[in-house]
Amino acid sequence: MHKENREKFIEKMRSGGVAIFANAPVAMRNHDTEHHYHPNPNFYYLTGFEEPDSICVIAPDHPKHQFILFVLPKDKNAEIWNGKRVGVKDACAIYGADKAYSIDKFDEKIGKFLEEAKSLYYNLGSNPNIDTKILNLFKKEVNARVRSGKGLHTLVDPSPFLSEMRLIKNEEELQRIRKAADISVDGHIAAMTAVHPGMYEYELEAFVDATFRSSGANGTAYPSIVASGGNATTLHYTSNDCEIKDDTLVLLDAGAEYQRYCGDITRTFPANGKFTKAQREVYELVLDAHYKIIDTIRPGVSIDEPHQKSIELLTEGMLSLGLLKGKAEKIIEKYKYRQFYMYRIGHMLGLDVHDVNCVHDAECEYKTFEPGMVITIEPGLYIAEGTKKVPKEYLGIGVRIEDDILVTESGYENLTETVPKEIDAIEDLMNKS
Ligand code: GLY
Ligand code: MN
Ligand code: MN
Repeated sequence: MHKENREKFIEKMRSGGVAIFANAPVAMRNHDTEHHYHPNPNFYYLTGFEEPDSICVIAPDHPKHQFILFVLPKDKNAEIWNGKRVGVKDACAIYGADKAYSIDKFDEKIGKFLEEAKSLYYNLGSNPNIDTKILNLFKKEVNARVRSGKGLHTLVDPSPFLSEMRLIKNEEELQRIRKAADISVDGHIAAMTAVHPGMYEYELEAFVDATFRSSGANGTAYPSIVASGGNATTLHYTSNDCEIKDDTLVLLDAGAEYQRYCGDITRTFPANGKFTKAQREVYELVLDAHYKIIDTIRPGVSIDEPHQKSIELLTEGMLSLGLLKGKAEKIIEKYKYRQFYMYRIGHMLGLDVHDVNCVHDAECEYKTFEPGMVITIEPGLYIAEGTKKVPKEYLGIGVRIEDDILVTESGYENLTETVPKEIDAIEDLMNKS
């Protein structure tokens, strides 16, 4: 897959282009302890290589070496402390590099790959430690051009090309996303069967995250949101430190990352296994919108269509619940619905949970759906405690229902629909367990 990705990227490069990609730096948690390492998604997409302190060079016009990796060298002592390294030899054998060097040889070796280059592709900001190095390199080459009349003259950001590519998933990516979705489904079902009043949100989080890891996921695709009661009206609530009270809803937004690809599901269910009347009213409205919004998806339809549909349906819902008063048209025109529904309906999903968002064409119009896109659909209503002028039975209710949708030739496939979302199905599952 990574080789094919490189070949497709090369097709997008101008002749005389050389691309440099730096993997993400290690993020320090404190003075000598690192955060769990996560590679840069574009770097991973093109190489499959997952170690820090690595640089990839793509030089299509070089007579001998077109794909070069600079990697951490084997080092007995460092490996005793921090684990095995791939090393220079296996960077070629396993990752298919035409040539590999130790990372400390980068300054010395990069020049020969730039000799005939006219454009340098590099994403500034992808690794602050490397940015300055690349800018200096570029400056040096541009200055040399003044005298020699040949060499580098243009710096190009490769990310738009990669975003275009990553927007449409290939077969291997889809397999991984399906697996990430399946594992995410298991985590949600585990949580629904385990939850009970008196439990703490973090205990439920532990069920979910343990399910992900024990199914071979890298971990979570983002910090799991386990929001009970009024906490569910905070969209990205992650402190997960409250007791789950009887008669409250639990909003669980959690997804697994499997072989670097993400799942992203939200379900909202009653802590004690039975929706109250008010919870049911809000929930049914969001669920009805959820189905209808997903049904707008098929190739050729504007990527904006599900969002417009969500505004229309959720606004109608707010009016029917008495959260807002007036005419739907005016409420939409003045964005008043944003008091209870304050984001866009979903986002692309892939190597990142909020994946490449190149959804506009050159005229800044929304593109249309194409087979191979994967998008989340996540309508919700959030009625924060203390909101004025709303029926008080709805205060502190937050409902979101999120699924991962693959666009197919004939319409769509819902990759995460096996987590129950009908009220009866949720109550059945919870009461059986
Ligand atoms: N979990 C973040 C989101 O659903 O977008
Ligand atoms: Mn989510
Ligand atoms: Mn999402």
